[in-house]
Amino acid sequence: MTDSTIESILQEKRTFPPSADFAAAAHIKSLADYQALYDRAAADPAGFWAELAQQELDWFEPWTQTLDWQPPFVKWFVGGKLNISHNCLDRHLATARKNKAALIWEGEPGDSRVLTYAQLHREVCKCANALKGLGIGKGDVVGIYMPMIPEAAIAMLACARIGAPHSVVFGGFSAEALRDRLNDAQCKAVITADGGFRKGMAVALKPQVDKALANDAAPSVEHVLVVKRTGDAIAMVEGRDHWWHDLQPKASAHCPAEPMDSEDLLFILYTSGSTGKPKGVVHSTGGYNLYTHMTLKWAFDLQETDIYWCTADVGWITGHSYIVYGPLSNGATTVMYEGAPSAANPGCFWDVIEKYGVTIFYTAPTAVRAFIKMGDEHPNARDLTSLRLLGTVGEPINPEAWMWYHRVIGAERCPIVDTWWQTETGGFMLTPLPGAIATKPGSATKPFPGIIAEIVDLDGNPVPDNTGGYLVIKHPWPSAIRTVFGDDDRYRSTYWEHIPPKDGQYFYFAGDGARRDEDGYFWVMGRVDDVVNVSGHRLGTMEIESALVSHPAVAEAAVVGKPDDLKGEDIVAFVILEGEAVPSDALATELKRHVVSEIGAIARPGEIRFSEALPKTRSGKIMRRLLRNLAAGQEIAGDTSTLEDRSVLDKLRGGA
Ligand code: WT7
Repeated sequence: MTDSTIESILQEKRTFPPSADFAAAAHIKSLADYQALYDRAAADPAGFWAELAQQELDWFEPWTQTLDWQPPFVKWFVGGKLNISHNCLDRHLATARKNKAALIWEGEPGDSRVLTYAQLHREVCKCANALKGLGIGKGDVVGIYMPMIPEAAIAMLACARIGAPHSVVFGGFSAEALRDRLNDAQCKAVITADGGFRKGMAVALKPQVDKALANDAAPSVEHVLVVKRTGDAIAMVEGRDHWWHDLQPKASAHCPAEPMDSEDLLFILYTSGSTGKPKGVVHSTGGYNLYTHMTLKWAFDLQETDIYWCTADVGWITGHSYIVYGPLSNGATTVMYEGAPSAANPGCFWDVIEKYGVTIFYTAPTAVRAFIKMGDEHPNARDLTSLRLLGTVGEPINPEAWMWYHRVIGAERCPIVDTWWQTETGGFMLTPLPGAIATKPGSATKPFPGIIAEIVDLDGNPVPDNTGGYLVIKHPWPSAIRTVFGDDDRYRSTYWEHIPPKDGQYFYFAGDGARRDEDGYFWVMGRVDDVVNVSGHRLGTMEIESALVSHPAVAEAAVVGKPDDLKGEDIVAFVILEGEAVPSDALATELKRHVVSEIGAIARPGEIRFSEALPKTRSGKIMRRLLRNLAAGQEIAGDTSTLEDRSVLDKLRGGA
């Protein structure tokens, strides 16, 4: 985020208390109610979660121990047996929800589908049996590489139903990125589609899967299940590839949900960090089910009649927790949309809200900023009066965007729920409870009950109010990351060693800088590690650097974020070329294209800056701080005395 954004957040003093009407009808109705829940949970977290787990979920067998915390490894509801697909589907069938819309889907070309709970249950059972027919069973990891179509959710739930952990890979990732993830998780099958529709175009997916699997490069994959979406011609490999529409109709609609241990692996989801390859974040069953259920219910004040729409992609944690599992576990109606707003269709989101009478709308600050640019006339031309609550996630929201969201979309009537959380946390950590907590533009307000959050220095000492520090969590919560798939050491070093444990107190290090104000409100400022946040997408600078140096013309690369009004941050790559290569616009374009093919379009550098050298310390460490200043066109701030060769800065400033 830009310095001016941070500045305006720091100056922000407005508060927006819940309206009396909203509070009266809400699950959590007052600050006193929130405080009572918070205090109860803080005094006895295990007791608090045990009570809710009993009340809110179905269990096939009770647990024997609520919390087993052997730092940094945590288990919740040990010995308990359940199945999240049962909690999302079967248990609603015996109620009035049986014929309620579970999933409302709107395709980009204008086609649509509604699946009731009974229908979704049937589709999930059939898919589960189709997978079983391919020899997929409990413990086999299944890759899901899909557009935003109902089959994506059906596939996830079918995997969960038979105890096959899923690993969803965002459809915008390249074949290379897909192959790495399939290999890391040792996927036995991949569920995909011929393609999907995005911004008026058909985007191919199956050809990417073929490329990822070519030359036996992902040897664990035995089967590929393909949904026909675009109808574009694709190649099918005999014996390996199967059409969804061939297997699904033949499969039985009867498939009992496999009793899963509370700690059985539910899914792996890859995310970027400051070092190495993307990490497979591991989430397990019981705690994740409970936490996504409770957070959605209380933070979005979910009611039986709500029509809830989260605009994320199922390829990200937001889609997992708050398009699929959280809403369905609550028996809610969840809306799924295939498209994205574009210049050609700037009102498409507002059309979806009007068409289905969406009551709760959850999107990202980068989308809000794009809407502001597209103009108020688009939302103003639609009937948005069904809305009663607005959510935001992905990056700090600048107060200007918050106020626009509040005024133009929310008609000053809808609370804005700014949710701070991460792939690793599974669910919301800092969030207002909208009937209880007054909001302040740019603040995710307070910890969810049961979350003990703090701002500390690197020694784990709390910093005073209104002083910047590191955001940490001091007690395990049910949907916490269990480990990095196949790499406990990396789990330990990434999350638990930046701030070493002290007197038995462990600190989960989130990687974000934040401060807390005099009212106990948290203000998250952004990443403190080498991670950039581009349009709410988290990317490791090192991954992009590795992609660049894999190009024959590149000797060395350093990637930093630079403030961008629309995307939050944009990627700037400083590149040193190999001997004979010469800087040119054509080469810059080629390098950008190379990064897209190595990772995906979300990682495309906005700018390539050729240079002869990079600013390094005498010990050879790249001084990124200086590169960030340069990329942002700012004066070099702070100490440069450790710089090995000061003339490098002048050369870089001159550009190349
Ligand atoms: C990082 C996590 C959680 C789903 C989306 C991203 C940033 C996320 C907020 C917010 C300020 C936020 C943080 C965090 N972030 N939400 N409301 N306010 N920053 O998940 O890809 O795991 O990224 O996104 O920097 O660490 P993710």
